[in-house]
Amino acid sequence: MRAVEIIEKKRDGLELTQPEIEFFVQGYALGDIPDYQASAWAMAVLLNGMSAEETTFLTLAMADSGEKLDLSGVVDIAVDKHSSGGVGDKTSIAVVPLVRACGLPVGKMSGRGLGFSGGTLDKLESIPGFRTDLTKDEFLSQLGSLGMVLSGQSVDLAPADGKLYALRDVTGTVQSIPLIASSIMSKKIAAGAQAILLDVKTGNGAFMTTLEEARKLASLMVSIGALSGRSVTAILSDMNQPLGEAVGNALEMKEAIHTLMGRGPADFVEHCLEITGQMLVLGHRADTIAEGRKMAEGALETGSGLEYLKKLVEAQGGDVAVVDHPDRLAEAPIKAVIEAPQSGYVHEVNARQVGETAVVLGAGRSKKGDEIDPAVGISVMVKVGDRVEDGQPLFVVHAREESTLSYARSRLSGATKIFDKACEPLPLFYGLVNSD
Ligand code: URA
Repeated sequence: MRAVEIIEKKRDGLELTQPEIEFFVQGYALGDIPDYQASAWAMAVLLNGMSAEETTFLTLAMADSGEKLDLSGVVDIAVDKHSSGGVGDKTSIAVVPLVRACGLPVGKMSGRGLGFSGGTLDKLESIPGFRTDLTKDEFLSQLGSLGMVLSGQSVDLAPADGKLYALRDVTGTVQSIPLIASSIMSKKIAAGAQAILLDVKTGNGAFMTTLEEARKLASLMVSIGALSGRSVTAILSDMNQPLGEAVGNALEMKEAIHTLMGRGPADFVEHCLEITGQMLVLGHRADTIAEGRKMAEGALETGSGLEYLKKLVEAQGGDVAVVDHPDRLAEAPIKAVIEAPQSGYVHEVNARQVGETAVVLGAGRSKKGDEIDPAVGISVMVKVGDRVEDGQPLFVVHAREESTLSYARSRLSGATKIFDKACEPLPLFYGLVNSD
């Protein structure tokens, strides 16, 4: 078999066989197939798609590209969660400690920023010393002792996805249902959790811009999960405007900590309560979502979620003092307010434009391996449906340089729409997809 023939077959819109997919994935993971061939193949998949069967073969091949964890010897049941990617989505950082505080173990393998969407690992690494490169043995041992892990893809687990993910980030090949589904589900299968909550975003700041596409992605991932014996629920959530206020790595870390301190923005708190409630039901710690949400509210009120975040940071080598003093996280040297040009009602805060602007400020990558700047980003001060007055702050830009600030100013000035007519706030959720 030759890699070029597999690329050509996909370019011509033909269906790949399981052996061809396995050959390509293994070859890429081992370094026998170079980045340029993998990029061409990923672009062919993006343009021509894959059948549900091909996507399942791709997922299994990526999950099999490294070791797979068996958590049954460590905990009775572990849940995992994953977001399909959005702007301001720091949910895992607040939800993992909350779920653990409610008595359910969580073993989660997260990703880095992808295109305009931020990544949990980059956010966590804004805490000095925090390690996201746990080995398989470290992952298992921490899950057993602490009941909670928030790590990256080590070289041991789903390494093919780790490589392909970094490549897709910088080759315009993120927005593909089969590539996203296989990327997410291969990590989830390799990490071994028996129950998985998928947060599938839809809107201009998501990879699936329409609800129909998001539903398709959700159903595909739920069916791949069922084939692998996992119990999977997908929640469809809004990403037409950024989630919460903070966009950018240290800013989002701060917001997640503030949320666990009981001072989070209303939409983000609501999002975290719902996701925690769903995870508690999936993990059999609550019978209903309402009961799960109540448990989550309790963990917020008593501060036990915050205590578990400290334990997580300590276990993974981070500076625990920043959890008590989030202001010690990196701050950008320049802060500039962008004001409303007129009074009226906010009809749009375009999440995509905010996310892309954050990348240019330095919060994301333009090329593989680029360093990110933890301090930069954007504070989003308004939500769709809000009434604003002329001159009221819409955004605060946190920049390192005048040149990127000036880009951010011009880009963000077109990111909101304000009209005289009142408008409704956006919903947070659009429904659930599960195997029932
Ligand atoms: N999250 C992932 O892990 N992979 C994707 O492709 C998109 C979101």
